Amino acid sequence: MNQLMFFLLFSMLLASCNTSLSDKETQAYKEKGGIISKSTGAELSGTLTNKMKSGGLVEAVEFCNTAALPLTQKMADSFGIEIKRTSLKTRNPLNKPSENEEIILREFEANIEKGIPLEPIVRLDQHGNPNYYAPVLVEKKCLICHGTLDQELSRAADSIIKSHYPNDLATGFKEGDLRGIWSIAFSKP
Ligand code: HEC
Repeated sequence: MNQLMFFLLFSMLLASCNTSLSDKETQAYKEKGGIISKSTGAELSGTLTNKMKSGGLVEAVEFCNTAALPLTQKMADSFGIEIKRTSLKTRNPLNKPSENEEIILREFEANIEKGIPLEPIVRLDQHGNPNYYAPVLVEKKCLICHGTLDQELSRAADSIIKSHYPNDLATGFKEGDLRGIWSIAFSKP
């Protein structure tokens, strides 16, 4: 066996150590991912609802603008993971999908087209880190900020949003659409 062959075989062997998770591990990451994304979502949506009540749309958008990312980061730090909300149509360019996330978003879109129900999934990334992805669907209450202009989304709301997010792509959604995903990266098992 020449050196190249040996090197190739050796690297395949190394790579194969971490190319899959057992069903039990996958299930455990799904559960953890579910708990983390739900509690982060609840924290975001609870504060958003309070802001809407106290200060209306202006305050709610200000909240999303200044607090959504730090709040998500705080949750990430407390769980010792990386967490992100991302989408094919982002409002904040800082939430743009990575290559892996874009693949998942397109898979979810394709499943919707085929009528396959969306489920959270766990995949190992190139570095062997488990990643959890869960669909985020559009609900009725999201439409005042993510709906169609001049329908659920008023001109006034749109201009407040555009003043903070000149590159906003996240409008025109309908109830039940895929708004995006939760993406959680765990460290290597
Ligand atoms: C008061 C207005 C408002 C409402 C209501 C609202 N959003 Fe948003 N949403 C925003 C703003 C502003 C951002 C940008 C946050 C940031 O800077 O990270 C955003 C960002 C997002 C993102 C991150 C990806 C991106 O586009 O940057 C997702 C996912 C999202 N919203 C989903 C939802 C869902 C699902 C609902 C309903 C349950 C909802 N939003 C309700 C204003 C709103």
